[in-house]
Amino acid sequence: MTQSQQIIIDSTLPFVKEILLEAEGGHDWWHTSRVWNLAKTIAREEPCDHFVVELGALLHDIADAKFHDGDESLGTVLAGDFLETHNVNPGVVEHVQNIILHVSFRERKNNRFKSAELEIIQDADRLDAMGAIGIARTFNYGGYKNREIYNPEIPARPEMTKEEYKNSAAPTINHFYEKLLLLKDLMNTKTGKAMAQRRHQFMEHFLDEFYGEWQGRI
Ligand code: ADP
Ligand code: NI
Repeated sequence: MTQSQQIIIDSTLPFVKEILLEAEGGHDWWHTSRVWNLAKTIAREEPCDHFVVELGALLHDIADAKFHDGDESLGTVLAGDFLETHNVNPGVVEHVQNIILHVSFRERKNNRFKSAELEIIQDADRLDAMGAIGIARTFNYGGYKNREIYNPEIPARPEMTKEEYKNSAAPTINHFYEKLLLLKDLMNTKTGKAMAQRRHQFMEHFLDEFYGEWQGRI
């Protein structure tokens, strides 16, 4: 990374922190910070443009549509304005905007855009949805939405359309079957796949304990 690129990264931090000040605990600055660190870890092992990876990771969640009345373009607009003000070249701006648009799990069936940098950030974002952190984030989101923790009468639906997924008000445990346990098979990079194994096993162990306790067996 060049010195002028590093200066832009440094000024991206306060910009993102400010925007995420009031965010839900699972989608706040600390989520972005973890994704940034994970993306840097993966990027060390994969051929890629490190500047784009860092910018994309830092800006990937500045305006999640589910917290902005379904507006799916706000994040790209805010990021574009910010990067243009810092004289980032138009090719990089467009690439980062494409990353923001395509990184989300909801958009996994819409694969019109592909790049090594997107694949790295997607893996980093998915890893942060798994393991101990993934479990914590999921229950935080369920609490934020006032959902039931678990309801044995409401089965999980792993095959949902994007609309059904967005509108689902199912108990939080169902989200494991609708997203979290599917992630290990969706990883793009070799490094991401390897890192996903441990987090996946931990979630399975958590669920075994959860049902054992729920039924009063253990
Ligand atoms: P994406 O933005 O990649 O489409 P989401 O925003 O749906 O992914 O998920 C980010 C995290 O927010 C999830 O990994 C989970 O922790 C939490 N989350 C999202 N939707 C739900 C839900 N319906 N129930 C519980 N947690 C959720
Ligand atoms: Ni994210």
